[in-house]
Amino acid sequence: MADKVLVSDKLSQEGINILKDAGFKVDCQYELSPEQLKKEIKKYQAIIIRSSTKLTAEVIKAAKNLKFIARAGVGVDNVDIKAATSRGIIVMNAPGGNTISTCEQTFALILAVARNIPFAHNSLKNKKWERSKFKGAELYLKKLGIIGLGRIGKEVSKRALSFGMEVFVYDPFLQKEIAESLGIKPIGLKELLKISDFITVHTPLTESTKNLISDKELNLIKKSAFLINCARGGIIDEKALAKALSEKKIAGAALDVYSQEPPFKLNLIDAENIIVTPHLGASTKEAQVNVAIEAANSLKDALLGKAINNALNYAQLEPEAYKIIQPYFSLADKMGSFISQLSEGAIKKIKISYLGKISTQKTDIISGIFIKSLLARQLESDINQINALSLAKERGIKIEQIKAPEEQEYVNSIRVKVSTDKEEKILEGTLFANFNPRFVSMDNVCIEVAPSKYMLVINNKDMPGVIGFLGTTLGKDSVNIAGMSLGRHAPKGIALTILNLDNTPKEKTIERIKANKNIISLKLVKF
Ligand code: NAD
Ligand code: MLT
Repeated sequence: MADKVLVSDKLSQEGINILKDAGFKVDCQYELSPEQLKKEIKKYQAIIIRSSTKLTAEVIKAAKNLKFIARAGVGVDNVDIKAATSRGIIVMNAPGGNTISTCEQTFALILAVARNIPFAHNSLKNKKWERSKFKGAELYLKKLGIIGLGRIGKEVSKRALSFGMEVFVYDPFLQKEIAESLGIKPIGLKELLKISDFITVHTPLTESTKNLISDKELNLIKKSAFLINCARGGIIDEKALAKALSEKKIAGAALDVYSQEPPFKLNLIDAENIIVTPHLGASTKEAQVNVAIEAANSLKDALLGKAINNALNYAQLEPEAYKIIQPYFSLADKMGSFISQLSEGAIKKIKISYLGKISTQKTDIISGIFIKSLLARQLESDINQINALSLAKERGIKIEQIKAPEEQEYVNSIRVKVSTDKEEKILEGTLFANFNPRFVSMDNVCIEVAPSKYMLVINNKDMPGVIGFLGTTLGKDSVNIAGMSLGRHAPKGIALTILNLDNTPKEKTIERIKANKNIISLKLVKF
C-alpha cells in the first residue's frame, strides 16, 4: 500500500504534486486542533508542516506509523526533535528556499524604521502633511550589527555593504576568516550592541539564544539605534523591549516574529515606535514554492529510500553515498542479530570498526542498524536505527567506532566486538559481489558463512567423527544441511562449526547433539 502523507499547514501545490506524482496518498487537513491532530496523525507515514502545526512530544507519541516529518521552512522550534528522535522519526527542513525572501523582508524593515515609512503612510492617509515629523536617517556609513551570520545573515550583510554600511557580526560558531572574507567585522555581542546603529537578529531560537537580548543588553544599545527581528520571537525579551521602547531607550524596533503568534496579547505591539508584520519573512510566492518543492523532494526521496536530505536528527545522505552504504544495512542488521542470539550477559561495550573504503562513508547509519539489531531483543522500548545509539548510551553501554581506511584482508569489512559482563564476541562481516553479506571471521577464527534463516553455531573438539555425527543426527530429524563452514585456531584444539540449515531441528535433536562429549557449546540462530 502506498505511503500516506499528511499536509497539515497550507503548502504550495507544486510540493503536493511532487508527492502525488510519486504515488503517495496525500491528504491536506489544515488547522487541526491538537486533539484532532493526535487522532489523525496515527494514519500517516509522513507529515509536511509549516510553522502553525505544533508537533509536541504528545502528538509525536500518538504518531504510531510516522517515519518522517518535513518542515517546509527553516525553523523547527515547533517540532519536539528529541521526542521524534527517540521514536525514530527523521525530521527534515527546507533550509534554503526562503533565505532571500526573509533577507529582503529584513531589509524592508530596516529601511522602514530608518525612514518612518508606515508612520508617514498612516499620517498622509489621515490627510496630514508632516514632513519634519518623519525626518529619517540614512543607512550610508551607518553601522549594522548582525547577530547570527548563517544563510539569511550573510544575504543581509551583502545588501548592507552595497548600501555603504559598515557591517559587524556576532556569531560564536562562525570562523573569523569567513566573516572577514565577506568584508564583515566579527566582534563580541556587547561591543556590537554598543556601536551599532541598526541591529538585526538571525539566529535560531535555542536555549542559548532565548532572551539573548534582554534588559541588560538593551541598556547597552545607543538611544538612536533600531532593533530588527525577522528570526524568532523570544530571542529578544519582549517585556524588556516594550519597556525600552516606552522609555525611549532605543529609537525603535521592527518585528516580524513573536513568542506567541498571533501576538494580540503582547503590549509590545502597541508601542508607538515599533513596526510590526505578521511573520511575513517567507511569505513571497517564490519562497513558498521553493520551500514546498524542497520539502516535498526530500520527503519523496526519504520515503522511497533513495536519499536523506536536510535531516536534523540523522546524517545527510546524498543518493550516490546512499547507493554505496545501503548494501551494508543488511550486513549490519544480520551481524547485530547474530551476536545478540549468541552472546550472554549484559552488554557493556560495543566496538565497531570499519575497515577499508567503507570507513570513508557516513557509517553512523550502519552502526545504528547494527546496534538496533543487537539490542532489539533486550529492550522493551521501540528501538530503531535513529534512536539506537542514544538508547544504548542511555543504558550505559560504551560505544566506540573506529575507521581504518587502509585495505586489509577484504576491500571493505565491518568488525564488531561486543563485551558483556560474561564474555566477549567478535564478528567480522563483508559483502561478496558488493551486496551479499558474509561473515568472514568469528572470535578471530576464519570462516565463510552466508547468514541464512536457520543456523547452528557450534564449538566442538577438533577431532575425527564430529562432522559425521552432526550430519547423521540432523539427517535423522530430516534436517538438511545447506552449507557448512569450519574453522579453528590450531589442530586438535577447539573448532568452530557453523551450519546453514533448511529447516529448524526439533528440541530433542538439539539436546542429543549437546549431550555429545565432543560438543562444547551449541546455539540455534534464526533470522
Ligand atoms: P542558519 O542556520 O543558516 O543560521 C543561523 C546562524 O545563527 C548560524 O550562523 C549560527 O552559527 C548562528 N547562531 C546560533 N546560535 C547563536 C548564538 N547564540 N549567537 C549568535 N549566533 C548564533 O539559519 P538561517 O536560514 O539564516 O535562519 C535564521 C533564522 O531565521 C532561523 O531561526 C529561522 O527560524 C528564521 N527564519 C524566519 C523566517 C521568517 O519568516 N521570519 C524565515 C526563514 C527563517
Ligand atoms: C521559517 O522558519 O522558515 C519561517 O518561519 C517561515 C515560515 O515557515 O513561515
